[in-house]
Amino acid sequence: MGLLLIPFNADHSIPLRRAPDVRQACTEAYGPETEDTPTEPYIASLRGLQGIIGAYEWRKNGVEIPALGARIHPHYGVFAPIRGEYIGLVNDAPLPELTATQSVAFDIGTGTGVLAAVLARRSIKRIVATDQDPRALACVRENLTRLGLAAQVDVVQTDLFPEGRAALVVCNPPWLPARPSSPLEHAVFDPESRMLRGFLNGLTAHLEIGGEGWLILSDLAEHLGLRTRAELLSVIDAAGLKILGKIDVKPHHPRVSDTSDPLHAARAAELTSLWRLTAK
Ligand SMILES: C[S@@+](CC[C@H](N)C(=O)[O-])C[C@H]1O[C@@H](n2cnc3c(N)ncnc32)[C@H](O)[C@@H]1O
Repeated sequence: MGLLLIPFNADHSIPLRRAPDVRQACTEAYGPETEDTPTEPYIASLRGLQGIIGAYEWRKNGVEIPALGARIHPHYGVFAPIRGEYIGLVNDAPLPELTATQSVAFDIGTGTGVLAAVLARRSIKRIVATDQDPRALACVRENLTRLGLAAQVDVVQTDLFPEGRAALVVCNPPWLPARPSSPLEHAVFDPESRMLRGFLNGLTAHLEIGGEGWLILSDLAEHLGLRTRAELLSVIDAAGLKILGKIDVKPHHPRVSDTSDPLHAARAAELTSLWRLTAK
């Protein structure tokens, strides 16, 4: 279907009989403010259009987040928090004692802002949420405003860390070290583990003494032979960090039980973990 091309007018209407009205969905995906916004008639693949329509529905309907008792509305191209198990880990892990007196947390690579929202609901007084992607920044602001949490969270566009230190620094990097094939895959694939390594290597410089870094990571990459556990442990050690604990959860999304999935064996063995790290 990627080879089936559809003509569009510049206003995103489709000049074909009985074509659906996808103008709103396309406007949200391309955004009035980006360089990608078409100003002339154009063509796009049916597969691309399906992605745009799917994202429009996710944004409109939102994703129910039990830990928040509310819905998070992902924007087109922003990592959607469909797999709830990692959110449960952040909701349930014991907060570092230091947060009782220094109630500041960073959420590195915030995406929709779901983890920042969970921390805000867990009564962290001030949160700084970062991302590099302008779509994510717009998305997190909208979600936090909708949840009434915007005053607790500063949203900052930066590469990894904001200025300063925090008692708790949370990061859920893309779980697979592989090259994205399109800009939309940057939230899923982390080429050469750049974000994972950047987070680990920069963590001690951004943690208060006695603070904790929470790394959220699935071991799917290990089951696929893309990273070894020894490599991960060696990066943690070389970054001057020690492991305080690890809380694991088994994913429960539908693909885990899909035996026709070529990655079934790896998915069935997968664990998602919250690694509690601190400076050595
Ligand atoms: C896997 S998503 C996680 C999103 C969200 N924290 C969650 O748990 O649902 C990773 C996020 O990190 C962002 N990101 C990737 N590289 C980054 C960097 N160098 N600095 C800041 N954010 C980055 C991506 O744009 C994406 O929103």
